[in-house]
Amino acid sequence: MSKRKSEMADKDQKKKLKETTTTTTTTNTDDESTKTTTNTTLTAEEWIPKKEKYSERYYQILEKRKDLPVWKQKEEFIEKIKSTQVLILVGETGSGKTTQIPQFVCDAGLVKPGTMVGVTQPRRVAATSVAKRVSEEMDYELGQEVGYSIRFEELSSPKTFMKYLTDGMLLRESMNDPLLSKYSVIILDEAHERTLSTDILFGLIKDVIKKRKDLKLIVMSATLESGKFQKYFDNAPLIKVPGRLHKVEIFYTPEPERDYLDAAIRTVINIHEDEDDGDILVFLTGEEEIEDTCAKIQRECRNRNLKPMKTLPLYSSLPIFQQSKIFDTYKERKCIVSTNIAETSLTIDGIVYVVDPGFSKQKTYNPRSRVESLLVAPISKASSNQRAGRAGRTRPGKCFRLYTEAAFKKLEPQTHPEILRSNLSAIILQLLRLGVVDLVHFDFMDPPVPETLMRALEVLHYLGALDDEGNITKVGEIMSEFPLDPQLSKMLIASPEHNCSNEMLTIAAMLSVPNVFVRPKDSREDADAAKKAFDHFDGDHLTLLNVYHAFKQEKEDQTWCYDNFLNHRSIKQADSVRSQLARIMTKFKLPLLSGDINSRAYYNSIKKCLVAGFFMQVAKCEKKNQYFTLGDEQSVIFHPSTGLSRKPEWVIYNEFVLTNQQYIRTLTEVKFEWLVEACPDYFNQGGFPKKSKDAIDRSKRLMR
Ligand code: CDP
Ligand code: MG
Repeated sequence: MSKRKSEMADKDQKKKLKETTTTTTTTNTDDESTKTTTNTTLTAEEWIPKKEKYSERYYQILEKRKDLPVWKQKEEFIEKIKSTQVLILVGETGSGKTTQIPQFVCDAGLVKPGTMVGVTQPRRVAATSVAKRVSEEMDYELGQEVGYSIRFEELSSPKTFMKYLTDGMLLRESMNDPLLSKYSVIILDEAHERTLSTDILFGLIKDVIKKRKDLKLIVMSATLESGKFQKYFDNAPLIKVPGRLHKVEIFYTPEPERDYLDAAIRTVINIHEDEDDGDILVFLTGEEEIEDTCAKIQRECRNRNLKPMKTLPLYSSLPIFQQSKIFDTYKERKCIVSTNIAETSLTIDGIVYVVDPGFSKQKTYNPRSRVESLLVAPISKASSNQRAGRAGRTRPGKCFRLYTEAAFKKLEPQTHPEILRSNLSAIILQLLRLGVVDLVHFDFMDPPVPETLMRALEVLHYLGALDDEGNITKVGEIMSEFPLDPQLSKMLIASPEHNCSNEMLTIAAMLSVPNVFVRPKDSREDADAAKKAFDHFDGDHLTLLNVYHAFKQEKEDQTWCYDNFLNHRSIKQADSVRSQLARIMTKFKLPLLSGDINSRAYYNSIKKCLVAGFFMQVAKCEKKNQYFTLGDEQSVIFHPSTGLSRKPEWVIYNEFVLTNQQYIRTLTEVKFEWLVEACPDYFNQGGFPKKSKDAIDRSKRLMR
């Protein structure tokens, strides 16, 4: 077909789709059984079209695909999934689960015209990069037949029949479409990761499949917790895809390493000098550390006059055009420096050497102190073995563990499910919105401790999302519509009252994207000086507002960003997030207002509005630099990134950061009166510990 002709055919199909595809869901509240009818005149072939002629690349990839372990069980898989509603599939990382199984599902004719197969991924990078890969495998343009959806970014079309999405996004979709009627098949991938959203989806979908007998569910996992999944889903059948790992030789350090970053760099250089060809994969914990290490490895190579090596970073906020570089082939040896993403979510071929310092960033939550933080912590044995496995995909490999064998033996067998280590207020608000009222009896695979549930309900109550009986309020309903933490959505809802919705939208958006300030290792002073120009006297939230305003004034200029050490991509993203949030505001008739920037009240109303959401994240000055957080009474200092140079009596903070020190980050000065005004109930309750109570009482007396 000529290009033009195929474009025409394309148009025809689109038109037809518009005219004829209607998906209706009828919910009958009297009756437990609910029907989903897909009313379409499209045939299966029209919905999932076969091309007359595929590109050369298609056939090249097809040959490779046919080599993947899951292809040996394609017939078995199709037969099984046709005869069951739920199927568990377990297979070694790289066996082809994520990329091939959704295509098999299509081949089996299980995706009804007008509907989709939805594949969840715990990580954004995995969702986007796998969608891109699969659209290439099927010879489509990304975003047409095969699409993706991650928070604040959706790429799909009316033609999309296969969608990769983060588990959080599917959870969100289920809020407006509880029966998930757009899907014929749902695949919960990477189930072994046991993320909070996946765990909640388990419970919700277990219920949906009772009501929708036409919906199929496939649970895919890389490790052998399959027994637990099978039991949870009423003994669903299991398919095991045998791995085809080559031998991986494991090396330990004889003594514990003092600095794992130094050790990692040293090990990479040693491999590059002494070992045969083959790519290297290094596991580190976060973006900054990774970018830094890549630069250091490069420098070391130059200093020692070694052969060139291609170092490539990999972390969750990496933009899609940079992701593909990881999968490209190069003349030089590749060294990929990655977070946990490369542990099971993404398979990179050609890795022969793995460097594993044994740490990852993990969420922890202490319901008593209400502190949720991301901590660099030792990985589990299961993780450690997964990491080693990455070295043996294509040929025998080596894994260098930067810890002793004794330390390995002491690792926890498995990482605890996230639901046991998270603040649950956002997720519980979503559940309540979905009508799951009886949280205690919700079918959790691993139920969270009651104290964590209680804490979450308490926070939602103070934010006005729940009434005294624990029912969701109108405010709560609107809050649940924003893809944000409850504090931020509350702040947005309160913003029209404070006459600053435009400003709050900007602040919420700027807080929802990767850090907008760039601070390169070799020009830190210049970067800090550049940031000073934006710093607001009252604090960091207002600094973010300044940056956004300046960005707009400079017509979003890229060079201007570069010169001012600002991340252009982040601010652009914030801009897009901002418009999405504005649409939600408009949908709920929340007016978009601004005060007069020249009036004295301008910044005060913004700060008061911040307090409306963050009155529970407040710290009080104790002496000099020392603060304590109200309620949980953690001793904290300002994060060095803050532009707040004063030490006001009260500050609100966006984040509690725990490294070698306890920090609060993104700070703004507030007045005690505003706190009490924002939520009298909270500040009048008797439940505060002594130090907090004394501080509140003293400030109240001063108020009078
Ligand atoms: O999900 P599972 O770990 O079982 O495997 P997969 O992600 O489906 O990967 C199967 C193959 O696709 C691997 O050999 C990958 O190298 C390849 N792949 C790729 O080339 N590019 C991607 N973005 C994703 C996968
Ligand atoms: Mg996978």
